[in-house]
Amino acid sequence: MRNLVLGLQFGDEGKGKITDFISQEDSVLVRYNGGTNAGHTVVTSKGKFKFHLLPAGSLKAESIVLGNGMVIDPEALVKEIGDVLVENPKLHIYISSAAHVVTRMHRFMDGAQERMRGDMKIGTTSHGIGPTYEEKYSRNGIRIEDLEDENRILRKLKFIRELRSSELQDSPFDDRELEKIARELHEKWNYFSKYVTRTEYFLMDSVNNNRHMVFEGGHGTLLDIDFGTYPYVTSSNTISGALHTGSGISLRKIQRIIGVVKAYTSRVGEGPFPTELHGQEADRLREAGGEYGTTTGRPRRVGWLDIPLVNYAANLNDVDEISITKLDVLGEFKTIRICKSYGNKVKVPVDALLGKAVAEPEYIEMDSWGKMSESEIGHIVETGYDSVPQEMKDYVSMVEKLTGKPVKVISIGQIRESTVVRK
Ligand code: IMP
Repeated sequence: MRNLVLGLQFGDEGKGKITDFISQEDSVLVRYNGGTNAGHTVVTSKGKFKFHLLPAGSLKAESIVLGNGMVIDPEALVKEIGDVLVENPKLHIYISSAAHVVTRMHRFMDGAQERMRGDMKIGTTSHGIGPTYEEKYSRNGIRIEDLEDENRILRKLKFIRELRSSELQDSPFDDRELEKIARELHEKWNYFSKYVTRTEYFLMDSVNNNRHMVFEGGHGTLLDIDFGTYPYVTSSNTISGALHTGSGISLRKIQRIIGVVKAYTSRVGEGPFPTELHGQEADRLREAGGEYGTTTGRPRRVGWLDIPLVNYAANLNDVDEISITKLDVLGEFKTIRICKSYGNKVKVPVDALLGKAVAEPEYIEMDSWGKMSESEIGHIVETGYDSVPQEMKDYVSMVEKLTGKPVKVISIGQIRESTVVRK
């Protein structure tokens, strides 16, 4: 089965949990967009694992691929490869020679741009993602394949420095520093060059051999550079179609598209958020859900589940089914709410998402299932969906009704095992 897993909100939907859940020991896992601005935490009985570049199921898969659509920070890459190989020493790793390289200079420019934006700032992760994609599209970028040649890296770095002089004012990047960066990047190349290849060939073979594959979209749909809440978005496409340009595999080859929805909404950084909560209610939800960025540690903005937003995303991605994550967290509240529409004044929901119309969320109120103990969760996991509390079943059915998409999997606790398939 060839699967695509992607998020239908503003990122941090828990895609990693679902990717991990559907991956098998013989799977090929693929990332095709973004870089270390993404982040997944997988909690297993052995502990907590944080990945920013590698797909979430890497701990047990047979092969992982970092596709050409990614922007890769070699420093982070070397660390994550080291970590994953301790747990999964037989893992096969394929890194696209055509993926682009994030350097310290790009991270600096990310910060400089944010400062220059003043009150127009985006709230980026400051990982250099935007500037690296800029380099790619102006055709001045450093690709993974360039790291083979230290002189080529240096030439490119110097050229980029010249082009970007206003962003690099007061920066430490003199010739000596650039030589150091070039040398370090080349050293990293020596470490991972054995994994570098034209990944599209391996992927095409995997498709032809009917391998079990899971493509994992980075970031949520509403962070898509075209369809998200521009300019408060990331610098890559995050919708399903990005899989094709970011990996070389046609979307027609994908047999199942799973949209991941967190039982409530969260967002990091600036931008519109129609169902956002404030004050004590927000604090309660943030604490209960542990809503602090995996990548930046920033407290996330939080709010109720927003159906107009999820439906927009589900349509853009043409999802087949939905997985709902973190349902247990809503047990914190006695009454929970779902936004079913934005009120009559908002004809086009995306206008509210873009901040062009004021959304007045219309809510449905539902009874909660209350806090569940670990043993209750364990019991549900053991015995299956039938043991799920009725209030939670009602919530899941309501999401199905409002989205018109089947909910096939739910997640009700932190650890990897706390995932329940709905028959
Ligand atoms: P950038 O991707 O670092 O340029 O950040 C742009 C915006 O996207 C910021 O608001 C980030 O917080 C947000 N963002 C990027 N990637 C993710 C993600 O994986 N989860 C949540 N927010 C993200």
